[in-house]
Amino acid sequence: MREKRELGRPWSVAVVSARPGEGATLVTATAGVMIDHRTGPGGQNVILMDADLLTGGLTSLLRAWQVPGTDDAYGVGARAGDGGGGLVGYALDRERRLRDRGIQHRLQELRSSDGRDGDMNLLAMRAPGSAALTTLGDLPDVMGRAVERLGEIAGCLLVDCGHGWNARTRRICETVEHIFVVGRADARAHPDTLRLFGHLERAGLLPKTVGHLANSPEPAHFAHGFGRRHTTNGHGPGPLAGLPGQGANSAPRQGRRGDTLPVRTLFGLPYDPRAADEIAKGALPGAHSPFWTALCQGMEALEPDLFRTGFDIY
Ligand SMILES: Nc1ncnc2c1ncn2[C@@H]1O[C@H](COP(=O)(O)OP(=O)(O)O)[C@@H](O)[C@H]1O
Ligand SMILES: [Mg+2]
Repeated sequence: MREKRELGRPWSVAVVSARPGEGATLVTATAGVMIDHRTGPGGQNVILMDADLLTGGLTSLLRAWQVPGTDDAYGVGARAGDGGGGLVGYALDRERRLRDRGIQHRLQELRSSDGRDGDMNLLAMRAPGSAALTTLGDLPDVMGRAVERLGEIAGCLLVDCGHGWNARTRRICETVEHIFVVGRADARAHPDTLRLFGHLERAGLLPKTVGHLANSPEPAHFAHGFGRRHTTNGHGPGPLAGLPGQGANSAPRQGRRGDTLPVRTLFGLPYDPRAADEIAKGALPGAHSPFWTALCQGMEALEPDLFRTGFDIY
């Protein structure tokens, strides 16, 4: 029998996706909000990190949650001398060596718009501001160090890596404890998904990859029907049928029909635009929401102690 995990021991996860628009940012934000809500004021403090240089999606989604005055609203800007808040400020702080840079003062406080839930923080990213980062050769190191530092102060740390695979994603994934892949329910067999898992495998990161979280970012009748097992409309095309680019640069595993992913699907999340809207407005979706309920039950089934001590799934 496994040992009981110490209450409040910090833990960290990275959320990655193969393609944009899969719902990775919504899942990350909702999971953070849910953990904060369920553990209450005395529970684990939650830190969310927006590591998506391309879209800064988590920062935009959580705008209504940001407590004014705890940083500039976007995580970068007129903080004289040290480059501003958020990840951009942290990265551009040339006054200190990387290992000596503090991160706490660069966090943005988050609170639900009714003020009830609020033991959360965000290391924000503004997409336009992030242009300044792209010239930094040591950006993966900066990202990895930011994750380490946040891990020192967080009860639970959730990092939205954005889609695809690059040196930054890799460094973040190497640094956290667990990795979740969010993707459309029917996209397990999509070449981009297989490519992402190829990267995780080659980087030796599969052992900490918890699994594939099957989300539905659009109504079922819009589903593409890429996969075999999760085709939601029942009459989609066969596996991998009609995919642009399929074949030309497929690795052997990608050319196979059907589902070859080396991880399981953890649980499904239904299409629920109201929940997405509520999160965007700074509110908790609550028990009436299919998305909220499925995420809550799915995470609890995965790790029964999640809302007490965090993930300890192995
Ligand atoms: N389960 C869902 N139900 C309804 N809308 C969703 C769901 N998942 C994602 N969305 C919506 O789909 C869009 C893309 O989601 P997002 O989280 O930004 O994706 P990603 O970060 O993977 O690019 C957003 O408008 C989001 O609100
Ligand atoms: Mg996103």
